[in-house]
Amino acid sequence: MELLKEEHASRLLKAQTHIWNHIFSFINSMSLKCAIDLNIPDIIHNHGKPMPLSELISALPTHPSKTRCIYRLMRILIHSGFFALAKIADENDQLEEGYVLTDASTLLLKDNPLSVAPFLLAMLDPILTKPWYELAIWFQNEDPTPFDTAHGMTFWEYAGNEPRLNHFFNDAMASDARLVTSVVIEKCKGVFKGLESLIDVGGGTGTVAKSIAKAFPQIECTVFDLPHVVEGLQGSGNLKYVGGDMFEAIPPADAILLKWILHDWNDEECIKILKKCREALVSKNTKGKVIIIDMMMENEKGDDESVETQLFFDMLMMVLVTGKERNEKEWAKLIFSAGFSDYKITPVLGLRSLIEAYP
Ligand SMILES: C[S@@+](CC[C@H](N)C(=O)[O-])C[C@H]1O[C@@H](n2cnc3c(N)ncnc32)[C@H](O)[C@@H]1O
Repeated sequence: MELLKEEHASRLLKAQTHIWNHIFSFINSMSLKCAIDLNIPDIIHNHGKPMPLSELISALPTHPSKTRCIYRLMRILIHSGFFALAKIADENDQLEEGYVLTDASTLLLKDNPLSVAPFLLAMLDPILTKPWYELAIWFQNEDPTPFDTAHGMTFWEYAGNEPRLNHFFNDAMASDARLVTSVVIEKCKGVFKGLESLIDVGGGTGTVAKSIAKAFPQIECTVFDLPHVVEGLQGSGNLKYVGGDMFEAIPPADAILLKWILHDWNDEECIKILKKCREALVSKNTKGKVIIIDMMMENEKGDDESVETQLFFDMLMMVLVTGKERNEKEWAKLIFSAGFSDYKITPVLGLRSLIEAYP
C-alpha cells in the first residue's frame, strides 16, 4: 500500500516537472533572443579563442549591477546547446574555462552570410508573438487567423501597412533564402537544366532569384511579389522585379519557383495559386514545371526534435496565416487537384523538400 502511494507520488512529481518544463519553454527562446540582442555569439567569435566569463563580461554593454547574471544566461544557453565550455591556458599557464560557439550559435553570427539571426528576431518580435495570446479566443470566433484577432487585419495587409514588419519579415525570409539557395544550387543543379526563364513567385526581396540568376546566367529570372515588397528594388542583367498578386495572374515562364509560399495558405488557396502557375507555364507552351520548396511532414528520418519542429511550424502557419504543413499525400492531392499530371520529390533540405510538379 505504502509502495503504491510512493509510486503515485513520484508519478505526480514527474507530471509536475513535465508541466513546468512546458510552461517555461519560452525561456529557451527568450534567453537565446537576449544573447543575440547582446551580440554574444559575435563577441565570442571575434575573441578568436575560448572566452572566459570575465572577458565576456568586460566586452558586454551590461550595467555593473547585472554582471553576475551573465553566468546564469550562459549556463542555460550551454544547456540548450548554443555554447560550450572549453579549457584554455591563462597567462600563468593555469587552465581556465572559456565559452566557445557550437554549430547552432555559429549559424546565428550576424556576419555569417547564412545567419538565421534575422529569422529568430522576426519570429520573436511582439507583432508575431501577440497572436499566440489570442489562440483560444480565435478557436471561438470567426476570424481567419489569430493574427487577425490580435491585429484586426491579415498578416499580409499588416506587412503592407507597417514598414517595420515588412522589413524585418523580408530580412528573415532573405536569411532563410541564403541558406536554402546555397544547398539547392549545390545539390539540385539538374532542376534548372534547360530552363530559359524562371519566376520566383512570392520571391520577397529577391535573394533566391539573385543567386539563381548568378549561378545560371542563361536563365531570365523574375522576382514576383506584392507591390510593397518589390517597391524600389532594381533588377540588373538577367534579373528583374515585378509587382503583382499571384491570385490574379502570374507572368509566363519555363519554371515557377514557390519557396515557402504554399505552406502560408489553405488547400483552396493553394489550388488557386497552383492553377495560376499552371496557366503561366502552359501559356508559355513549354514543358515547364513548378518548383516547390516547403516542409514535408512525417519525414521517415524524423527524430524527436525534427518532429516537434515541424509541429511548431504547422501551428505557426495556423496562427499567423491560413496555412499548414503537409505530408506527401497532402502535397500530391494539391498538385493533382490543380491539374498537374505528375510530381517528383527531392528530399535535400533537412525538414523541407524540393518538389517538382509537371503540368
Ligand atoms: C513566407 S514568404 C516567402 C518569401 C520567399 N519565397 C522566401 O522563401 O524567402 C511569402 C512571400 O509571399 C508573398 N506574397 C503574399 N501574398 C502574395 C500575393 N498575393 N502575391 C504575390 N506574393 C505574395 C509575401 O509578400 C512574401 O514575400
